[in-house]
Amino acid sequence: MALDASSSNFPDSSGISFTAFYTGEVWRREGLSVPFLASKQGRLLYLAGMPVEWAGKALLGTNNVIMLLQRHHIIDHVLEKAVREEGFTQIVEIACGLSPRGTVISRRFADIDLHYIEADLPGMAGRKRHLLEKAGELSSRHRVIDIDILAQDVAESLEAVFARELDPTRKTLVITEGLVNYFDYSTITGFWARLAKTLAAFPEGIYLTDLYPNFGWHPVVKVANTFKSALAFATRSSVTLHFGNEAAIVAGFGDAGFDSTCVHLPESYYGVLDIPVMRTPSLVRVIENRTASA
Ligand SMILES: C[S@@+](CC[C@H](N)C(=O)[O-])C[C@H]1O[C@@H](n2cnc3c(N)ncnc32)[C@H](O)[C@@H]1O
Repeated sequence: MALDASSSNFPDSSGISFTAFYTGEVWRREGLSVPFLASKQGRLLYLAGMPVEWAGKALLGTNNVIMLLQRHHIIDHVLEKAVREEGFTQIVEIACGLSPRGTVISRRFADIDLHYIEADLPGMAGRKRHLLEKAGELSSRHRVIDIDILAQDVAESLEAVFARELDPTRKTLVITEGLVNYFDYSTITGFWARLAKTLAAFPEGIYLTDLYPNFGWHPVVKVANTFKSALAFATRSSVTLHFGNEAAIVAGFGDAGFDSTCVHLPESYYGVLDIPVMRTPSLVRVIENRTASA
């Protein structure tokens, strides 16, 4: 990642942003999105990736799209449960890209006082804000704001954004999807530690993220480790698979300052949620971290 030459001494990770077009197209093709989030860039990237997706399915019994769908549905499920059963009413989706979740969830919970804040780097956030505004989806309860998880001591930093934009009296749930594996461990744990501290100021906090771990026994890990250099090159980032086993995941988030951590396996949701089933063990995990008010 290059250092941002403009003014600051934190890295510039905007090279990752184009991947949001691809995932946005996956959500659209799978009937999860809304028409106004479709993009030409997404269609082209999806077509370009199709041979790899076919090969993965044929040779490994899985592919990227299957795991994207698994993580997306599990995150939705845990999120909806927290809203319905525990009264979480403030959702912040960091690195929202062109995900339809903000629109879908805001519409689904239109009858309760839910605040949904989508956030991304200024370029992607600006695009999303414009698309939502044109579609008449923005309101005081559904907003899009600029954030940079790597930034500190500026208006787009996590701490400044949360202090300025959020209601400190609400139970708050933060999501990152498709973000954490673009960063090396020390960078992403730095963000997790700051997030755990920031979330602890709310009455209750949940941080939900997907994660692709570095399980040596897993057949997909070898392939992923081969392709990660190409992805790192294309996105100018430090693509990394984190954690060697489930216990290390729990310990890692505990070290970052979360009070409890639950690792959700896609297999636990086969037959429960409408997610694709793989014949080999899934590699993606959804991590649910909690903070209680200090
Ligand atoms: C793979 S896309 C995922 C988009 C969306 N969450 C989804 O699943 O469709 C990665 C997203 O991370 C955002 N991103 C990259 N670096 C970031 C940073 N430092 N702070 C916040 N968001 C960032 C990109 O702009 C992009 O929208």
